[in-house]
Amino acid sequence: ESKVSTAAPVKIAVTGAAGQICYSLLFRIASGSLLGDTPIELRLLEITPALKALEGVVMELDDCAFGNLVNIEIGDDPRKVFDGVNLAMLVGAMPRKAGMERSDLLSANGAIFTAQGKALNDVAADDVKVLVTGNPANTNALIAQQNAPDIPAERFNALTRLDHNRAISQLAAKVGRPVGEITHMTIWGNHSATQYPDLFNAKVGGQNAAELVGDQEWLEHTFIPTVAKRGAAIIEARGLSSAASAANATVEHMRDWVLGTPEGDWVSMSVPSDGSYGVPEGLISSFPCTVKDGKYEIVQGLELNEFSRAKIDASVAELVDERNAVTELGLI
Ligand code: NAD
Ligand code: LMR
Repeated sequence: ESKVSTAAPVKIAVTGAAGQICYSLLFRIASGSLLGDTPIELRLLEITPALKALEGVVMELDDCAFGNLVNIEIGDDPRKVFDGVNLAMLVGAMPRKAGMERSDLLSANGAIFTAQGKALNDVAADDVKVLVTGNPANTNALIAQQNAPDIPAERFNALTRLDHNRAISQLAAKVGRPVGEITHMTIWGNHSATQYPDLFNAKVGGQNAAELVGDQEWLEHTFIPTVAKRGAAIIEARGLSSAASAANATVEHMRDWVLGTPEGDWVSMSVPSDGSYGVPEGLISSFPCTVKDGKYEIVQGLELNEFSRAKIDASVAELVDERNAVTELGLI
């Protein structure tokens, strides 16, 4: 008896497919970490000189004989690769090197997202969801969104799930409890060194995390910088930016966006602001979000003390600066 499903496959576009994040990401997607047993088709975009390497990655995907991977298409033309796609993971962009901030990549990477935004606008499926991982992720997502006027604005997200997971892991280690006991973590603001991982609303086994830690010195001078500068620490140690953990976070963000967040908890997602928590409307900033039936909502009514307010304002100010910079570059 055949085990092959007859349902139409979900078409998933992934860019930068021959790069290091995708060397982990594609295999996670294809093995079912993203959509479980749902049949999928992969649409892989690369620049022309990387297509040969991508053919090698496709050979390896073939060699895994993944049961739910129905088809793989590759190419260097976003208008062909994005045709009819339901999910788009925009990973392809240059990573920073030691000594750079992610925003230093704006002019190098910004143009990628104008072209891809336009192509998605013209050829993606009506239900397309777009998640940007390539840095600077928040502002690249804004560029893609602004170049895709026919796609509802809220379908453009950026990745701060890696920061969220880093924050959970650091907190769990500090309090000596399993990561599974940490809930209600929030990253606010930009995926950058100004991001604000919030322990005042986080919980450990239902207890307030900041109270349990009881150490403002650690929170301010160890926890926040460790999480915010973790990307740089990995570049320093590996000589390359994070890849497997970035792929994991990309899968988790998209999976939760499609299938929903766990009951009684939230996750951090960079989404277009509706003005919540004083974040200017339209900026793609990280918020606590819940998802139901494929639609996310920003969690409302959280209390922000003065410390949190100042941290969020600083990160949001950086997002405003980045938006101004790409406006000046003519990218939006
Ligand atoms: P990489 O250099 O290994 O791979 C990037 C790939 O993108 C390359 O193969 C390149 O050919 C391809 N590419 C470049 N321009 C393209 C285009 N126009 N269309 C399609 N593909 C294109 O880099 P990586 O380590 O895989 O990282 C990719 C991006 O993700 C970087 O910008 C990195 O900073 C970012 N990143 C973000 C997070 C996050 O949490 N948001 C985490 C880790 C890395
Ligand atoms: C990360 O957070 O690991 C990535 O954004 C890569 C980087 O430049 O830090």
